[in-house]
Amino acid sequence: MERIDKILSNLGHGTRKEVKGLLKKGRVEVDGVLASDSAMKINPDKSVIKVDGEEIRYRKNIYLIMNKPAGVISATVDNHDETVIDLIDEQYHAFKPFPIGRLDKDTVGLLLITNDGELNHKLIAPKNHVDKVYYAEINKFIDATDIATFKRGVVIDDGYKCMPAILKVLNADENGSEVMITIQEGKFHQVKRMFESVDKKVVFLRRTSFGPLKLDENLAEGQYRELSEEELNSLKLV
Ligand code: URA
Repeated sequence: MERIDKILSNLGHGTRKEVKGLLKKGRVEVDGVLASDSAMKINPDKSVIKVDGEEIRYRKNIYLIMNKPAGVISATVDNHDETVIDLIDEQYHAFKPFPIGRLDKDTVGLLLITNDGELNHKLIAPKNHVDKVYYAEINKFIDATDIATFKRGVVIDDGYKCMPAILKVLNADENGSEVMITIQEGKFHQVKRMFESVDKKVVFLRRTSFGPLKLDENLAEGQYRELSEEELNSLKLV
């Protein structure tokens, strides 16, 4: 059982004070009865709550999939730059969402945003071997030696030996290469550092999948949507 004012405030209907105003004005209904007492306790999973006649969906967690644009930071706050959280609608902010893992400022593509700490933990733990697939443009020719080195586990600048990675070449000539790379870790600048260790540079990076989820082609960079139930269930099975 939870207080109605707390429930409504957590769902983004204003501060506790503002919610109190809504209740006083008779704009809130619980199970078909006007609710005016902000201390009223209800079970939000069982009761039907309406604000201005519209039923509101009670939920503890939100799950968003974003096609992250370049120039935006994967963090909740930043002193200088716009963050991925700044891009999402105000209604979600009350849930205190954060990105799962990080994409660099100049990296685009699939980013999950949630307030589900347990799921976050599970998805970023290296022991869970969640595949992350990136499309990358590289400044040089990628050859069979690079593919073999990545498969063995490339050693990056700080001496860390990465877990085996699958490198698939889509196109390669003396001007550069287009590749798909699959990794199971998420170290800081990992893909860029992996290519640097074989003396090459990533010039463009887009994450195209994360575990069972694929980047939605209907989402332009900067757009996002809620995960479908099917997508969420597949993530929870990871
Ligand atoms: N690897 C990187 O180097 N950058 C990213 O944003 C993601 C993976």
